Amino acid sequence: MKGRNPKIIVVGGTYIDMSIKCSQIPVVGQYVIGSTLSYSISGPGPVQSVQAALCGCEVSLISKIGSGSFAKMILEGLAEYNINTDYVQCVKAKNTGVHVTMINSEGENAGCLYSGANSALVPMDITTADEAIAEADVCLIHGELPQETIVEAIRCAKLHGTKTILDPARPLEQKEDGCGELPAEYFAVDVIIPNLSEAADITDQTSVGLRNGKLIGSDLIARGVKHAVITMGKRGCLVVNRNGADNIPAFEVELVNQSGRGDAFNGALAAYYAIKDDIHGAVKFASAAGALTCTKFGLLEALPTKADIIQVLQEHDTDH
Ligand SMILES: Nc1ncnc2c1ncn2[C@@H]1O[C@H](COP(=O)(O)OP(=O)(O)OP(=O)(O)O)[C@@H](O)[C@H]1O
Ligand SMILES: [Mg+2]
Repeated sequence: MKGRNPKIIVVGGTYIDMSIKCSQIPVVGQYVIGSTLSYSISGPGPVQSVQAALCGCEVSLISKIGSGSFAKMILEGLAEYNINTDYVQCVKAKNTGVHVTMINSEGENAGCLYSGANSALVPMDITTADEAIAEADVCLIHGELPQETIVEAIRCAKLHGTKTILDPARPLEQKEDGCGELPAEYFAVDVIIPNLSEAADITDQTSVGLRNGKLIGSDLIARGVKHAVITMGKRGCLVVNRNGADNIPAFEVELVNQSGRGDAFNGALAAYYAIKDDIHGAVKFASAAGALTCTKFGLLEALPTKADIIQVLQEHDTDH
């Protein structure tokens, strides 16, 4: 029997995000005036970790950052949410990853990502955390990292019987031109959470239509995944497993800023799935977290607590 509080170990990239609110996203050669600047810790590592912690989990993060003032800000910020940073390594040779995001008045965004130290997270960094992975209920992995490191995390978690959840995202190595062929280990996980276009890339489907989602999900299951959760933004998501495919509608919310929605969804899903092997319950819980995150400006401060999520679920109980 593992610990009383759910324990989650997150493997994910860490960034400093500079988000600027502006009337429109500029085109080449154009400069626009920004109205709000938020300067915060971001990336799938911290956001998924904080979301799981806000859902009552004990969370450890495996990640790599630089060594300057950004690193200090990250370590102090994560400590405020009680995230264990023993496996967040500060390296002198690399800069901390940086995200520059512009958000227009409709809440749409565009930006640039500099991966920095995240591209130096190597399999040895996973091996170092072997004991923590063994003790965790769930190992939640985000795919925007070197592939061999992700493979090692999946291998290590499976060896210890820790549940595995993978958001394949876009591999760091092929950020611009699709996923390419993914290692077989990616399909040995309990839950895979791509969005629809990522799922289409992984399975070599050219059409990303809603109807194709079930086909794509079945393909992922045929490759060995236990549950495929294909997210589709405000169109909700599709849960596919050996029992069939189900559409889980999104909660209707007023969109303010969609940054972090996918990571909030993942963190909340991991928190629920750590306690209960109920994928549909976990996806509903996660959908509420993803939707609530869209209702606030900011990143970590936009993430909902477990109580916020439960309140939304209760309010919509009759509709879902
Ligand atoms: N506008 C929205 N309204 C309500 N729920 C939303 C909205 N956007 C996202 N969600 C919820 O969050 C889930 C994940 O969102 P989405 O499919 O956009 O992830 P993503 O494309 O991986 O995002 P990210 O770029 O943050 O990783 C959705 O399946 C849905 O449940
Ligand atoms: Mg995503």
